[in-house]
Amino acid sequence: MVELLPLSDIEPQAVEALLDAAFGTDRFGRTAYRLREGVDAVPALSFALVGDGALIGTIQCWPVAHRGADGTATSLVMVGPVAVHPDAQRGGHGRMLMAYMLEAAETRADGALMMIGDPEYYGRFFGFTADATAAWDLPGPYEKHRLLARAVNGHSLPTGAGMIGPR
Ligand SMILES: CC(C)(COP(=O)(O)OP(=O)(O)OC[C@H]1O[C@@H](n2cnc3c(N)ncnc32)[C@H](O)[C@@H]1OP(=O)(O)O)[C@@H](O)C(=O)NCCC(=O)NCCS
Repeated sequence: MVELLPLSDIEPQAVEALLDAAFGTDRFGRTAYRLREGVDAVPALSFALVGDGALIGTIQCWPVAHRGADGTATSLVMVGPVAVHPDAQRGGHGRMLMAYMLEAAETRADGALMMIGDPEYYGRFFGFTADATAAWDLPGPYEKHRLLARAVNGHSLPTGAGMIGPR
C-alpha cells in the first residue's frame, strides 16, 4: 500500500538520503542545482511516495525563469529531481509521482514546465520534448537533447533565446 503525501510531511534528512541513494552524493555539482540556488521548492508541486512507513520516492519542483536578451522574463517551473529508491525502481513509482505532480500542475503551476532528463522516459510517458528549448541556455554544462519542456495550465513555452535561472 503506497501513499502520496506533500513533501513537507517528510523529514528533510530522509529526503536528502533518498536523493543520495538515487543520484549519488556528488549530485550537487549538477547544473540543475544552480537553477534553484537560493529558492525553495514549490510546496503545491512537491510530493513524496511512502509505503509501509518507508520513503520510496520524491518529486520536487522549483520556480525558475527564462530571461531573454531584451529583458523579457517568462516564469517556468523546473521539475526534478524525480527520484525513486534503487530498491524500488522500475515498479511504476516514478510514473506515479510524475502523474500526480502533472495533475496538480494542470491547475496550480504558475509557468510551463521544464526539466533536464531522459527524453526516452519523460517524452514517452509525459509529453516532454526538446522542441522549444533549442535556443535556451543553462548556467552550466548540459546535453541539449536532455533539456525538455512542456506547456501546462495555459502557460505556453518561450521559444526564443534565453538563459534559465532561479526566480
Ligand atoms: C528515473 C526514475 C525516476 C524512474 O522511476 P521508476 O519508478 O524506476 O520507473 P517507472 O517504473 O515509473 O517506469 C518504468 C518504465 O520506464 C522506463 N525507464 C525508467 N527509467 C528510464 C530512463 N532513465 N530512461 C528511459 N526509460 C526509463 C523503464 O524501462 C520502464 O519501461 P517499461 O514499463 O516499458 O519496462 C528512477 O529510476 C530513478 O530515480 N532513477 C535514478 C535517478 C534519475 O535518474 N532520475 C531522473 C532524472 S530527474
